[in-house]
Amino acid sequence: MNTRPIGIFDSGIGGLTVARAVKDLLPQETIVYFGDTAHLPYGDKSTATIQAYALRICDFLQKRCKVILIACNSAAAAAYDVVCAHVGQQVAVLNVIDPMVDYMGSQFQGQPIGLIGTQQTVQSGIYPQKLQALGQGIQLQALATPLLAPMIEAGFTQGVISQEIIHNYLQNPILQQIKALILGCTHYPVIRAQLQAFYQDQVAVVEATTLAAKALQEFLTRHQLLSNRAQAADHFIVSDLTPAFEAATRIFFNQPVHLEQLPA
Ligand code: DGL
Repeated sequence: MNTRPIGIFDSGIGGLTVARAVKDLLPQETIVYFGDTAHLPYGDKSTATIQAYALRICDFLQKRCKVILIACNSAAAAAYDVVCAHVGQQVAVLNVIDPMVDYMGSQFQGQPIGLIGTQQTVQSGIYPQKLQALGQGIQLQALATPLLAPMIEAGFTQGVISQEIIHNYLQNPILQQIKALILGCTHYPVIRAQLQAFYQDQVAVVEATTLAAKALQEFLTRHQLLSNRAQAADHFIVSDLTPAFEAATRIFFNQPVHLEQLPA
């Protein structure tokens, strides 16, 4: 048993979708969430810049937490290995990509699948590398969809504007013939219903939040790190605090969240 918090980190507030799933599955766990709102979006930043941000944040979290879950595809794609090398001796580090890859490997052997995500996530090639390493014959087509995260944060999740943008991306020729679509960004579960509607349920639209929460639960169980009661209040810390960020938390966490500015 271990009552230290779980550290969850994202470029901003989109990773709250993962925090929500963790809280739903593991209500007895305490969360320290870190959203790097001063530096978002990560999706169009260079690998070296994201690595520098991620290392500082994981230094902060490893002093307070029993495990760190990188709840951002862009950060996981760019920095998972360097974060593990840097803090892996002190604290275990999990991410949102590996549970998705494992799931797709178990469900879609030999089939064509698609991925949408940020420029960083797509250009890193991390998903095709990991899927190929499974040896299951999955063919991946990946498309960067950089308008989706800011669109969702601005509250455009339903209606003609979001529908137009979603359709424009999903009609891309490289995403035709797929059997499943990976939502490779922690913002996208918010528009999962709209994506599914586009496909009229003919394509499986797969998001990582519950997969990541289950992988965390398995990890904590295996290492006897589960808590049996929440010890303290959850903390939602951001590197830059504005009323707009706080207002937008509801979109991702299904309830308002009180954000705290990172102490100096
Ligand atoms: N939440 C980030 C991800 O999963 C996307 C937002 C950003 O570009 O910072 O990739």
